[in-house]
Amino acid sequence: MNSNETSNTSRREFLKTTGRVAAVSALAGIALPHVHAAENNTIQIALIGCGGRGGGAANNALNVKFGPVKLVAMADVFRDRLDGAYGALKRAMPDSVDVPEERKFIGFDAYQKAMDCLRPGDVAIFTTPLAFRWVHFTYAIKKGINVFMEKPLTADGPSSRRMLKLAEEATAKNLKVGVGLMSRHSRHLQELQKRITDGEIGDVVLMRGYRMAGGDLGSAFSLKYPGGKTNELLWQIRRFHSFIWASGGCFSDFYIHHIDHLCWMKNAWPVKAQALGGRHYRHNQEGTLYVDQNFDAYSVEYTFADGAKMLMDGRCMNGALPLYRSFVHGSKGFAIASNSNDCDGPSSTYTGQNPDRAKRLWLSNEADDERDPYQNEWNELIYAIRNDKPYNEAKRGVEASLVTSMGRIAAHTGQEVTFEQCLNAEHEYAPGVDKLTMDSPAPLLANAEGVYPIPRPGLSKVREY
Ligand SMILES: NC(=O)c1ccc[n+]([C@@H]2O[C@H](COP(=O)([O-])OP(=O)(O)OC[C@H]3O[C@@H](n4cnc5c(N)ncnc54)[C@H](O)[C@@H]3O)[C@@H](O)[C@H]2O)c1
Repeated sequence: MNSNETSNTSRREFLKTTGRVAAVSALAGIALPHVHAAENNTIQIALIGCGGRGGGAANNALNVKFGPVKLVAMADVFRDRLDGAYGALKRAMPDSVDVPEERKFIGFDAYQKAMDCLRPGDVAIFTTPLAFRWVHFTYAIKKGINVFMEKPLTADGPSSRRMLKLAEEATAKNLKVGVGLMSRHSRHLQELQKRITDGEIGDVVLMRGYRMAGGDLGSAFSLKYPGGKTNELLWQIRRFHSFIWASGGCFSDFYIHHIDHLCWMKNAWPVKAQALGGRHYRHNQEGTLYVDQNFDAYSVEYTFADGAKMLMDGRCMNGALPLYRSFVHGSKGFAIASNSNDCDGPSSTYTGQNPDRAKRLWLSNEADDERDPYQNEWNELIYAIRNDKPYNEAKRGVEASLVTSMGRIAAHTGQEVTFEQCLNAEHEYAPGVDKLTMDSPAPLLANAEGVYPIPRPGLSKVREY
């Protein structure tokens, strides 16, 4: 054993032991200031992708029950994003943010420099668009760094296969990996899943998820690249919901939460999907053409091996019925899974197929300090690190991403698509994404009119575009 390994091992042992003490004391509500003050006991964090969710995830990391945790490095491809997140985090938690200028990194290699500031056993947060997950994950595994990465993880077959292999490598190296499918850490959905598994509503035969909202959600709809100081690659990254290579489009980015937690209620992934989808409004109110790759309405019918169905309806359209909830129908009863948004409670179960109060069997309730699934997922990741518990959500995260892609591809091609076809597909949407520089061309190129290729169901039957 070389001296590096010795010090890593002893640090891990130290984190384990002191973490256990900190965990027990936190659970018992007893503060142990000396343990928390110990510098060696601090888990260091690097934030890679300093946008909206990155700031949120870092905030959750710094507020875990099982601290101390400190943010020590940040990386982004945009300086304004990094500065914005740094300012907000530093103002909120000045003592937990220690990122001097020399540990702020900009560029496509910034992720390496930020992770180089960490020690084995620390945590890197990946909150860039999904295209970069496998690149960043590869480096974290090489360096022995634990990871929290946001959903979705992949948009195509080749990167899914690569990520599944990386997930195995991470487990082999005993790394802990959290994935931002926070429904899985929601207490009401955990209890609902147990009740459904125990047979409270009988056999699950149909599930329904709806994320139907107003028009231009996130960066889903884009007009032509305007030129100027920001090159087309960086502009596409800034508007990542518009481009399938960057995000899997609005379908993958917005609808994965319902797809993931409904499949969990069934304890299975669907084997195939067929779907409707289209773009009713291709122009904005001024009549200017949108050039992004999204449809504005999707309706996917997933089929499970036992014949049960799951419907996922998504719509980005002003003035149409808003609906953002998820439901489970069983042979004996009915359940509300997400009562609103991605996974907000309360969840409930009923006899019969209606949410009839008189027939309600159960209504969820949860402890105040466990209501936030974003905080729960971080408490659980850090607890696993400190207590050396097996913890790797990457395989499940890839599978949820693949199932989501299966629905999107079915809608975009107009064909029935199987899980296996998605997994084994050859079309890679951003080959060479690990070699991008600030001057690289974008992975998706426009034609002479500035228009990008879009899905054409029934015409392009294998490739989405
Ligand atoms: N779990 C959830 O509820 C939830 C909520 C919001 C977003 N997300 C996920 O988080 C991810 C980020 O979403 P967001 O809303 O924060 O987007 P965002 O655009 O606000 O943030 C992404 C950041 O990553 C940076 N970035 C892009 N490519 C990079 C690279 N190669 N290296 C370093 N930095 C890079 C961008 O400049 C930007 O600052 C997405 O995958 C999204 O699906 C999850």
